[in-house]
Amino acid sequence: MRPEDPKQRQRDAHRADDPASGPLTTDQGVVVDHTDDSLAVGERGPTLLEDFHFREKITRFDHERIPERVVHARGAGAYGFFEPYHSCAEFTKAAFLQDPSVRTPVFVRFSTVQGPRGSADTVRDVRGFATKFYTSEGNYDLVGNNFPVFFIQDGIKFPDFVHAVKPEPHNEIPTGQSAHDTLWDFVSLQPETLHTVFWLMSDRAIPRSYRTMQGFGVHTFRFVNAEGRGTFVKFHWKPKLGLHSLVWDEAQEIQGRDPDYNRRDLWDMIEAGHYPEWEFGVQLVPEEDEHAFDFDLLDPTKIIPEEQVPVRPIGRMVLDRNPDNFFAETEQIAFHTANVVPGIDFTNDPLLQARNFSYLDTQLIRLGGPNFAQLPVNRPVVPVRNNQRDGYHQSRIHSGTNYSENSLGGGCPAVAGTADPSAFRHLQERVDGRKIRKRSASFQDHWTQPALFWRSMSDWEKQHMIDAFRFELGKCVSMRVRERTVEQLTLVDHDLAAAVAEGIGVDLPERRDATPQPAPSPALSFENMKGDGS
Ligand code: HEM
Repeated sequence: MRPEDPKQRQRDAHRADDPASGPLTTDQGVVVDHTDDSLAVGERGPTLLEDFHFREKITRFDHERIPERVVHARGAGAYGFFEPYHSCAEFTKAAFLQDPSVRTPVFVRFSTVQGPRGSADTVRDVRGFATKFYTSEGNYDLVGNNFPVFFIQDGIKFPDFVHAVKPEPHNEIPTGQSAHDTLWDFVSLQPETLHTVFWLMSDRAIPRSYRTMQGFGVHTFRFVNAEGRGTFVKFHWKPKLGLHSLVWDEAQEIQGRDPDYNRRDLWDMIEAGHYPEWEFGVQLVPEEDEHAFDFDLLDPTKIIPEEQVPVRPIGRMVLDRNPDNFFAETEQIAFHTANVVPGIDFTNDPLLQARNFSYLDTQLIRLGGPNFAQLPVNRPVVPVRNNQRDGYHQSRIHSGTNYSENSLGGGCPAVAGTADPSAFRHLQERVDGRKIRKRSASFQDHWTQPALFWRSMSDWEKQHMIDAFRFELGKCVSMRVRERTVEQLTLVDHDLAAAVAEGIGVDLPERRDATPQPAPSPALSFENMKGDGS
């Protein structure tokens, strides 16, 4: 334990009274004489309503569960710290990225996406990799995944996608056997899913350990420096232990033998002092190079190939402390893409824009009202002062008036036009256009990058992917859905499509035009983009 850690100090102040330090009490602090038999009339009579201890004990139990997350329900988390290798002031004014001697406390939650809270760890799925940085300027959340791309390009499709991925609505059983006709139906009709589906059919979707998993911010975000200059940025977490996956047979066996395989590994290793560590890296693109690529930086189904823009290591994160209470911390933590600090800003990626609405909205119901930021795991380590008041589960006692502008004293000072240089100011991006439901043309190229991914694989990795496509797609009841998906695979790589078709009883598709080879690297404006971290 690091006593200097401000988050740890804050948590200590929230600890419940030690239950072993005195007699059992009710929630009102009244000492209870007996907790094993309810109050009844005689030895064989009915239980009395008057037994307030019995009623309180049962009522509290009845209300223990809260709704699980609508996605990413199953997770495991840990505390730790982040420290930058050097100052990133050239690109961002974010305080936690300036001084290598300053450690910022973090909480990270890893998760599977599709299954409920009680599902197994080692299923084929995307993994969440969400980090809350408790910075000196407030909380910054990097809510990422272990894939660098996402299934859809616009958040308006998220409910459709998630409904297709989750079990059937009438009986909560996936159609087919272990795979879903609904998922493959969606994939075959929405080819923007293909790139991420390729990652899903790869060994990346069955990580051996959370400690050996990469993380990605997925979207293009923006760094903003003290002069107000923006730089596009993609975030990367690289595990110091290297990247390791299970093989499919192993993953299936472990599902039966130890459904907690990944969370147990994380817990045990931290308890044993083998603290997992990740390097934090960034791909930086100057604003003037926004259109230098053959894809749109706002499209979350596309990566920026590392040959074109190398990843520059800028810091490291270590997880060194397990939570004390799963519910209070891992379950009640609330990540939100809109939790940013000065120096980090958004882009107009339509998936990110939707996320910036969705997380707070869902947490209002999941965590029972608007005051969940007061929960110990969510509280920033800096003061919170504003005129937001009341609501369910208010645990602060505010005093004074509660509005601004305010000439009567008390409440929060008026903030309009504050000169405070540490205030968050949105980047003054110029935006201008007609209101339309349409994206740039390159959003329609769904095949080039899956082909890039496929070609980057070694032969055995390709075989694992063919086996995965055959296994998953082969469970589809609808032959039409199988055929349509294979038709999409043909547009990525004919040999892959042929190998999958043969394994699932679909006619060999006609060879279609191969996708174009990757474009040559653009000449980027930054001269020092060598990825050497200097
Ligand atoms: C939860 C990542 C897209 C809505 C999560 C979590 C992660 C994540 C890591 C779990 C957070 C935790 O551990 O508590 C991502 C990534 C996305 C993406 C990387 C795409 C790049 C979306 C979209 C929406 C969405 C498009 C909706 C428009 C949600 C919701 C939750 C969630 C509602 C549950 C949050 C809660 O109950 O606290 N997401 N997500 N996500 N995500 Fe996403």
